[in-house]
Amino acid sequence: MMINNFRLQNFRNYQDETIQFMPGINILVGNNGQGKTNVLEGVYYLLTGKSYRVQREQELLRWEQSEFHLYGNFLLAHHKVFLESHYRDKKKMVKVNQVPCQRLSDFVGTINVIFFSPDDLAMIKGGPSERRKFIDLHIAQMRPGHVSILNAYNKVVQQKSALLKSYVEKSLKYSQLQLWNAQIIELGEKIIRNRADLTLRLQDAADSIYANLSSQKEKIQIMYIALGKKNVSEAISEFPQLLNDKLQQEIERQMVLIGPHRDDVQILLNDKPARLYASQGQQRSLVLSLKLAELELIRQEKGEYPLLLLDDVLSELDSFRRDYLIKFIESSNIQTLITMTNAEARLESGAFYYVEQGHIRRNL
Ligand SMILES: Nc1ncnc2c1ncn2[C@@H]1O[C@H](COP(=O)(O)OP(=O)(O)OP(=O)(O)O)[C@@H](O)[C@H]1O
Ligand SMILES: [Mg+2]
Repeated sequence: MMINNFRLQNFRNYQDETIQFMPGINILVGNNGQGKTNVLEGVYYLLTGKSYRVQREQELLRWEQSEFHLYGNFLLAHHKVFLESHYRDKKKMVKVNQVPCQRLSDFVGTINVIFFSPDDLAMIKGGPSERRKFIDLHIAQMRPGHVSILNAYNKVVQQKSALLKSYVEKSLKYSQLQLWNAQIIELGEKIIRNRADLTLRLQDAADSIYANLSSQKEKIQIMYIALGKKNVSEAISEFPQLLNDKLQQEIERQMVLIGPHRDDVQILLNDKPARLYASQGQQRSLVLSLKLAELELIRQEKGEYPLLLLDDVLSELDSFRRDYLIKFIESSNIQTLITMTNAEARLESGAFYYVEQGHIRRNL
């Protein structure tokens, strides 16, 4: 799939700017703080209804303005889609082919997108929640039902947690906790299965990508750790027992101590935890391999590649890794929007766009 035309109005530092993107690689070049990342953020927002960086739309509004608008023409394998995203009077509105969309979730996932941002490095160095978020976001793009399961699960965890903190008579507390636990098992099992299944498929795809990226010198392993166990089926069958075993401790600490909200995805680089040992360039390569693996999985499922947004990906990659990445994108013919500062602009192929103070100029 590809984006043709993209227009931003009062979004971040753009007043009113239109860009005509090309198939293949599109390179946004410019000095720091000119608006390169803002373009990627705008495209991502148009496709997902969310910013990658901030929670509140208010920050996306160009200063002193009260509304922003984004428009994009997309080309899918068999049809065209015109998307609009409007933010006005603190309300969001999305239109697909000029028809207002009732619920945002109805259209999210129609056009898939993969975004690499330097913030994603937290996936390697940060805590388990970063890795769970990555896995959940991918599943949500493919199966929107995952989000409702997650929401329902989180609600149950909140309610159980409130009960743990409350002053309820002991036997009543026990029986109520059992009820919440039954729901935690039912919903939690679905979450664990979805995540473990995706992790396995990611491992398959990322394994060879990372090996190629590192000229066969390094290998990665990604494993979903469910309820503290590598063996997921074992974890699921022991879930009720594990919950019972923890009950006393949960009451004492007034916290929900076990369940997929505490799970992790272990990432090993050459058999050692990447969190502890991976260098800057290796971390970047790891995240990149995972993103490219996501790309392959989406293609397998949807029959075409998603749009690829790469923010500041090339810095810290050695020339071999850069070349591999560029060749990978070129040979698979994936439409890619990539940002770089002037210093890094050494790519020969692709359409160049110069970004300066919220203005974009195509260099022919
Ligand atoms: N809501 C907003 N309204 C107006 N300007 C904004 C808003 N949010 C951010 N900016 C401006 O946008 C610029 C940053 O844009 P962006 O993050 O896209 O830069 P960049 O070109 O990617 O830079 P770098 O190379 O450092 O990553 C800053 O100058 C910032 O002041
Ligand atoms: Mg930037």
